[in-house]
Amino acid sequence: MIPRTIFLRLIEGGCLPPSPLSGLTPEDFWTEKTGRAVIFTVAIDGPAAAGKGTISRAVAARFGFAHLDTGLLYRAVGAKGGDPIAAARGLMAEELARGDLRTLEAGQAASRVAVIPEVRAALVAFQRRFARAEGGAVLDGRDIGTVICPEAEVELYVTASAEVRAHRRWLELGGEAAHILAEVVERDARDMGRVDAPLRPAADAVILDTSGMTVAEAVAQAIALVAARMAGE
Ligand code: CDP
Repeated sequence: MIPRTIFLRLIEGGCLPPSPLSGLTPEDFWTEKTGRAVIFTVAIDGPAAAGKGTISRAVAARFGFAHLDTGLLYRAVGAKGGDPIAAARGLMAEELARGDLRTLEAGQAASRVAVIPEVRAALVAFQRRFARAEGGAVLDGRDIGTVICPEAEVELYVTASAEVRAHRRWLELGGEAAHILAEVVERDARDMGRVDAPLRPAADAVILDTSGMTVAEAVAQAIALVAARMAGE
């Protein structure tokens, strides 16, 4: 399965050397040039399978911003095995292109390593640089508006009922529906209950409950919000 980040484009295009994430500079990031040196961050947080990825990709494509799926960083650390702190500190760009990062197991492993403060700390600088790189950026995750980029121009908290989210993940991955619901609920509880950077809406985040929305409706609302903020509203 193809990870949904700009990294893969870089890796597929052969533009990204095998380098530690910590060594990457903003110039390494792919972005459709808007012709303006815009620094504009869209922070999209929310629980598992809320639709953050779909909305983030659509917003990034609409405005020509770079997109970082930060969950992939934690998934890659969890999937590596061994000492998670060492894995996070030495995370290489090409490790984000592993084909097995979107599985339920990889999600669970990600949320287990994501409670470790040293793991989170090792990934902060990279995410912050990405968020404030020229050209605009959309980051989706759990702590973008609260920890990584509280100064983001747009902070969106995308959510939906656990049942709706589990159904969406089931459509994506197949498998046993009850098992998927249990996985989503367990992961949310761990992500919301951890001490370091727990999942919660940023104080000034706009809440987007997509339970009763189509993908097109959710995307349209997110794009309208970003457009309004870009217009200074
Ligand atoms: O796609 P989904 O929403 O199911 O998960 P994900 O965004 O790929 O994130 C996987 C796991 O990584 C989450 O359950 C969190 O435990 C962790 N994570 C985090 O702690 N902080 C982030 N900014 C992103 C993900």
